[in-house]
Amino acid sequence: MPAAMLPYACVLVLLGAHTAEAADTAGVGHLRWEPRCQQPLLNRAPVTTLLPPRLDGPWISTGCEVRPGPEFLTRSYTFFPNRLFRAYQFYYRDAACREPAHSLLIKGKVRLRRASWVTRGATEADYHLHKVGVVFHSRRALLDVAARLDQSRAGRACARRLPPARAWLPGALYELLSARAERDCAAALGFTMHELSLVRVQRRLQPKPQAAPRLVEELYLGDIHTDWAERRHYRPTGYQRPLQSALHHARPCPACSLIARSDEHHPPVLPPQVALPLRLGGRWVSPGCEVRPAVLFLTRLFTFHGHNRSWEGYYHHFSDPTCQQPTFTVYAAGRYTKGTPSAKVRGGTELVFQVTRARVTPRDQVTTAMLNFSEPSSCGGPGLWSLGAERDVTATNGCLPLGIRLPHVEYELFKMERDPLGRNLLFIGQRPSDGSSPDTPEKRPTSYQAPLVPCDGVAWGLSRAPQHQPLPHKRPCQGGPQEAPLCPLLLALGLAILQWL
Ligand SMILES: *[C@@H]1O[C@H](CO)[C@@H](O)[C@H](O)[C@H]1NC(C)=O
Ligand SMILES: *[C@@H]1O[C@H](CO)[C@@H](O)[C@H](O)[C@H]1NC(C)=O
Repeated sequence: MPAAMLPYACVLVLLGAHTAEAADTAGVGHLRWEPRCQQPLLNRAPVTTLLPPRLDGPWISTGCEVRPGPEFLTRSYTFFPNRLFRAYQFYYRDAACREPAHSLLIKGKVRLRRASWVTRGATEADYHLHKVGVVFHSRRALLDVAARLDQSRAGRACARRLPPARAWLPGALYELLSARAERDCAAALGFTMHELSLVRVQRRLQPKPQAAPRLVEELYLGDIHTDWAERRHYRPTGYQRPLQSALHHARPCPACSLIARSDEHHPPVLPPQVALPLRLGGRWVSPGCEVRPAVLFLTRLFTFHGHNRSWEGYYHHFSDPTCQQPTFTVYAAGRYTKGTPSAKVRGGTELVFQVTRARVTPRDQVTTAMLNFSEPSSCGGPGLWSLGAERDVTATNGCLPLGIRLPHVEYELFKMERDPLGRNLLFIGQRPSDGSSPDTPEKRPTSYQAPLVPCDGVAWGLSRAPQHQPLPHKRPCQGGPQEAPLCPLLLALGLAILQWL
């Protein structure tokens, strides 16, 4: 999803009551680069979650998506009022979603059940598949799928049902799954729709210069396990990048109408993407409250010093899905290596990050008490913890009760993209779904988390002149992480570096 769709939000600032005035006086259209983290002030209308979620209607990807593997795809799902759904998944050979390989047509029924006890803010659902069909867009795509099926015994029986490559017919639809015929070859392909078992629908307003804000509706569906072997059994506790309503999506979105118009015979071919070199320098921030599987709510803020390849990150943790109730903050810092292009995930860059220093700030009573009672040698050494007071945990090799181990190395995958508004987005590798950390090259991610957005002009990639008058109001978060106490809800931080992040 191009980040144009994200509220460029210091979401915590957005939620701070004292910022309301500033937003009023700033007005829509004052898109200045300087207090980049403040931009959400312009997007004051808070994000609202529809409970129960209303799924009816067409929902689409807003760009090329990357799933663990990697798999490159776009999606177009339609839910009907009678609970039936029809979903298209378009798969591609390339990382820009320009060379369609095969398309899946998935039909079934979905039923919302109850609010999730595990992932607060989400709704659990049951689904049932009626049919899954596949259309191959090239002979090669047919061979690739047949080769994948050939890897298991169940799959080999399924592979025999496909035509030999020389008999490939453009446009022919082959049935992979049929509830009526009790046949399931989709499973042998690693296909599931477990993403439908966790849903959340959000509404927000996209500010428009010189115009009324536009309504944007987003559909969050369950995350895909990073380990292929676990996919079939994994019940999601986090989300993928959201789909957006085909009727109410953020604009501009060149990919949206292409995806909305597509079907299994006419897969969308996305517009070419300018390849962006990875330029990490500057500060990058989560545009909203992030939900991680298993289940963490957090915001992250990173600073990369390109000239000496060092980085610092803040992770602000919360107990609620709107990131309003802080629990603790972790500051981590270290060095990183020069990036090299990824052979496995085209368009990605591989880096190695080291975490050598860390500090922890408890932000609620429970965490403070927990740290108070922990073995001093396991977190921070002798001395008491008190609410809001930061302590260095480097000397104790991290903080065991919080799962922080130092020194620590992570094998990372990064990517930079430019959204349709010309803004840079920083994608960092998806964390292993089992909660471990990518501390060996084999565990390096093959997909990405929700992107970070630049916090200031340096990383912005645009030299947009500050042509509007400055915000007349004191900026509550100005000055960066060191001033966090002035802005207790300051966004947070962080690379994906700590083992449980
Ligand atoms: C790298 O440079 C930044 C300032 O540009 C400085 O704050 C930081 O401490 C330096 N890091 C290391 C590891 O030298
Ligand atoms: C931490 O321990 C100190 C001393 O025992 C105590 O005064 C303080 O209230 C404790 N804090 C919490 C949150 O338990």
